[in-house]
Amino acid sequence: MCGIVGYLGRSPARPILLDMLAKLEYRGYDSCGIAVQGNPLRVFKDIRRVKELTELVPRDVPGTIGIGHTRWATHGGVSPQNAHPHLDCSHEIAVVHNGIIDNYQELRAELMLEGHVFISETDTEVIAHLLEKYYQGILQEAMESTIARLRGSWAMVAVAAKERTLVSSRQGAPLVIGVGSDEYLVASDAPAILGYATSVVYLEDGDIAAINDVELSVSRQGQQVLQEPKDISWSDGATEKNGHEHYTLKEILEQPAVLRRTLVRYLEEKNVGEGPRALFQETTDDLTILACGTSYHAGLIAKHVIEGLLRIPVSVINASEYACRPYPPATLAIAITQSGETADVIAAARRIKEHGARVLAVTNIPYSSITTVADRVMYTDAGPEVGVAATKTYTAQLAALFELVRSSPRLRPQAKEILSAGFVELPDMVARVCAISADIEDCARFIAMHERAFIIGRGVNLPTAYEGALKMKELAYIHAEGYSAGELKHGPFALLDGQTPIIAVIAADETRQAMLSSIHEVKARRSPVVALSYEGDEAVEKLSDFVIRLPKATCPFSAVVNAVALQLLAYHAAKIRHCPIDFPRNIAKSVTVE
Ligand code: M6R
Repeated sequence: MCGIVGYLGRSPARPILLDMLAKLEYRGYDSCGIAVQGNPLRVFKDIRRVKELTELVPRDVPGTIGIGHTRWATHGGVSPQNAHPHLDCSHEIAVVHNGIIDNYQELRAELMLEGHVFISETDTEVIAHLLEKYYQGILQEAMESTIARLRGSWAMVAVAAKERTLVSSRQGAPLVIGVGSDEYLVASDAPAILGYATSVVYLEDGDIAAINDVELSVSRQGQQVLQEPKDISWSDGATEKNGHEHYTLKEILEQPAVLRRTLVRYLEEKNVGEGPRALFQETTDDLTILACGTSYHAGLIAKHVIEGLLRIPVSVINASEYACRPYPPATLAIAITQSGETADVIAAARRIKEHGARVLAVTNIPYSSITTVADRVMYTDAGPEVGVAATKTYTAQLAALFELVRSSPRLRPQAKEILSAGFVELPDMVARVCAISADIEDCARFIAMHERAFIIGRGVNLPTAYEGALKMKELAYIHAEGYSAGELKHGPFALLDGQTPIIAVIAADETRQAMLSSIHEVKARRSPVVALSYEGDEAVEKLSDFVIRLPKATCPFSAVVNAVALQLLAYHAAKIRHCPIDFPRNIAKSVTVE
């Protein structure tokens, strides 16, 4: 959703701000803008893409300090007035903001009575006017007074016409400060600063950071806090396409490497006494998983494995539903969110904490908002994911969840051996799936001709079917439904005809025979069948119209192998259908509104 950037250094701000904004495009947005410091401030906005904004901003705009924003409309429609940066009445202060100011209407009324004139419908504009109201020549002080008046969430950066400073503040929305050589970068999302910064400072809730030519100073509740910059673990190349046509394809193909390094890290980490695994191990009676979308599917797979192997009952709840139903309190909640910013998950995690549960977050993003709510954090190691559709972050989540189970003392020794061995084999198996991308493309040609499909599975691969269907919807715009193979006959059979392919996800486990029966039933109703099966399963070969032959994986690892195959199937179908694969319409990478 919205993205923030800021720059203070010796180089011209214009190209750096625009480049940083381009690196945040993947978050999804509908307007964008920058302000370059000088007296007067120069502000440029566009309701199209960063590319068009770049054409709009004269190349020779002077100024080595500036801020920028990509906006995903919430308060007020998509218009140049509503686009950020927002200015005060005298055009001396500009601000960009992510989050929602809950009390903006009362502040707006108060400021209007005092003579402030508003030109936008946004909540953000009140911040510009409050900064103006309190500004007495030192922007940092105006920021302190301003945030004392705000309720809600924010990550913001402000710049003043007459000061060489950038002032930022965070409350409930992420903000990082990159430190380069003689320059500072500010961003809502670490990928924006890659290639410029060599180290990074993560702000915490309530922090105000003031940057000038000499230093970065961070204060919390009026007290200076010492913030040692940390090394950046992601490389700039991590957000490049590296020769691939799409980020999504690159990220799918990165999965063997992601799983390999995850495996090494988990197996090498001997001391788990204080970390997330220790918290998980304390849980013996009940467990709730909170997540949305793809992460919810990872939660369903975790439920299958935890209940099956550890005999702990698990409720998996769509985080957006948590507040709507009287769920019993749990002793432990696992909040799964790759971005760490999904508002529904954060709200649900806060609520379940109020009911007495402790929260273990599984996330890919260090210092993201969920980490400020959680008691412990299990990081996945997928690296930056630019494609809006979650691919490598999903399989990294599965690896993290399987590792929680593998490290549990409740796991029987034999099961532990099987899980450990499966973990070791997994990266190579996934590499073998990636190696047959061209075969999967052949099946995708068939699927791409259809407007609807069912993806069916059972057991641990039922959530795989749900996830495959989500990929097919968002990437290829095909109305695919993930369905329990056994449930098809209880209604959806009415939809089966020659135009409704069935994609059957088959694994070498106790569900195989029942899956074969389901395929027989489907074929009897003339629906074509594309089977995901393991090499050498002749019964499946005979029954199906198309077969994607995958390595034979044990439970639960078949869920990873099959998921990668379905990602590739959806990717190729999307490409054949000329869909905007990396940035599907209407959706955003981090959904930061409830
Ligand atoms: O960042 P999160 O894991 O919390 O995101 C939750 C969903 O919005 C997300 O998984 C979404 O469903 C995927 N991007 C779809 O590919």
